[in-house]
Amino acid sequence: MSAAKITRSNSWWELSATWLPSTILPHLSLLDRRNVLEVGSFEGGSTTWFMRHFLAHEESRLTVVDTWQDTRDPECYGDEDYSTGNFDAVLQRFLSNVRNSPNSEKVRAIRGDSASALASLLPTASSSFDFIYVDGSHRASEVFLDVSLSFRLLKRGGIMLLDDYKWVGERQSGQRPSDARVEGGCGAISQMAELDITAAIDSVLASVPGGVEVLHCGYQLMVRKLGESVDVKAPEQLII
Ligand SMILES: C[S@@+](CC[C@H](N)C(=O)[O-])C[C@H]1O[C@@H](n2cnc3c(N)ncnc32)[C@H](O)[C@@H]1O
Repeated sequence: MSAAKITRSNSWWELSATWLPSTILPHLSLLDRRNVLEVGSFEGGSTTWFMRHFLAHEESRLTVVDTWQDTRDPECYGDEDYSTGNFDAVLQRFLSNVRNSPNSEKVRAIRGDSASALASLLPTASSSFDFIYVDGSHRASEVFLDVSLSFRLLKRGGIMLLDDYKWVGERQSGQRPSDARVEGGCGAISQMAELDITAAIDSVLASVPGGVEVLHCGYQLMVRKLGESVDVKAPEQLII
């Protein structure tokens, strides 16, 4: 497949691609069978990189999740199709980029909100992914869910890469009160500073069973899962 067939409007992923291979290689043999999950694909910058580098083994698989629709994300993507609400055009670009990249038969895409999509994977895919890339929403409450659910989907010893670990959005910085910490309590919620992404990610990772090992800490964070997650069964309704 030729890289010339890939159409993109940005170069976000290229920043990661400069340091990631040398950082990840000591921890992950890219030729092994790999089960990979990506949250947030946009037009497939990171997706197509993972396809080229993580899917060599015939049994390797990549699952990706994205809404490809307006989520009122606090980040402005600066993409003409996104800003004019033409999300299907971005989805078509994603599909075309994936079809024109190696190992496309090993990719499955789920269009939907990440919280619902990740939760729906839990009953069958708990603790089954070797590598998870989280690059979806930039809203702390959603990042919190993405990281919590992804963590349960990650194998013990598996690696999670979190984009935008140090992202500070305009809305957050513009609205933050000067004394960012207002004492908690129900009445204070409206005056409290919005949680930033760093705090959302830290609060999940500091409280997961078994903890994590930090492998890289910069604008992106890369961690290894140390403990086991409890197996989750599909919910069942009890007859009362
Ligand atoms: C920064 S872009 C991803 C960029 C991509 N990983 C790359 O390297 O080119 C973030 C993506 O997350 C998606 N997204 C935002 N909120 C989401 C949510 N709640 N559920 C699923 N996808 C979401 C957006 O539609 C967007 O395509």
